[in-house]
Amino acid sequence: MDYQNLLAMRDFIKGLWDKAPLLGIVLGSGLSYLQDYVTVETILEYRDIPGHPVCTNKNHRGRYLFGRIGGMPCVVMDGRLHYFEGYSPEECTLPERLLGLLGIKTLLLTNAVGGISFAPGEVMIVEDHIACFVPSPLRGKNEEELGPRFPDMSDVYDPVLAKKIEARAEKEAIPARRGVFLQFPGPQFETRAEIRMAKTLGADAVGMSTAIEALASRHMGIRNVALSLITNYACGMKEGKITDEEVIETAKKSEKTMRRIFEIAIEEIGNDR
Ligand code: HPA
Repeated sequence: MDYQNLLAMRDFIKGLWDKAPLLGIVLGSGLSYLQDYVTVETILEYRDIPGHPVCTNKNHRGRYLFGRIGGMPCVVMDGRLHYFEGYSPEECTLPERLLGLLGIKTLLLTNAVGGISFAPGEVMIVEDHIACFVPSPLRGKNEEELGPRFPDMSDVYDPVLAKKIEARAEKEAIPARRGVFLQFPGPQFETRAEIRMAKTLGADAVGMSTAIEALASRHMGIRNVALSLITNYACGMKEGKITDEEVIETAKKSEKTMRRIFEIAIEEIGNDR
């Protein structure tokens, strides 16, 4: 990644929206409805930012929403970039780099995932990840301005926020518990054998994004919170085939749960900013 290009993109954005955001939010597949919590001030399509990669996945719009949420200035990514689209991990995490350069302190990631220890409709509050099945976005020359060559990853997801969100969910009987996320490269859904392996390795849910984004964000010292909606049983956990339609349908059906856990996360981030 060329640091000068990143700075140029940041300045391009600042020319259109010149606030200092505290919070970045990434909306996963089928979860675009969460954007209605945001009082939007400016919208910018990825394709309108010179040098910015664009979304090729039909379930992702590919635009930034700039505005406020819960009293905090924020930037929302309505659509993310995936490794399976052909982008390098470095390119996939360019938006998180930009959000970091704009000054966010916390990144709230959401995604749709396959459940190993969880059932469809439940939410996993990510407490740790396994990212070693995808190359690291930190590979290659390190930009010291962004972060250290060998960053610590012991708290890649903020443990205090994750526990607080889990405790509040439990009190309200929202099906949300902490667990470990594993990122596969995709775009194919996994085989039964791959899911058995993931389970043996300690994964509670699997997906095709997010871990490398959290990793790049943590490299910059940003605090991460990740909410994974289980949209289907991972391959072999139940009979039946996995489809993209099922993923989007469950995301829609679970709107109430997802909205409430999102509201709780925003409140807790706001209480501890
Ligand atoms: N595997 C990988 N990614 C996913 C899945 C899955 O089962 N469901 C939603 N995204």
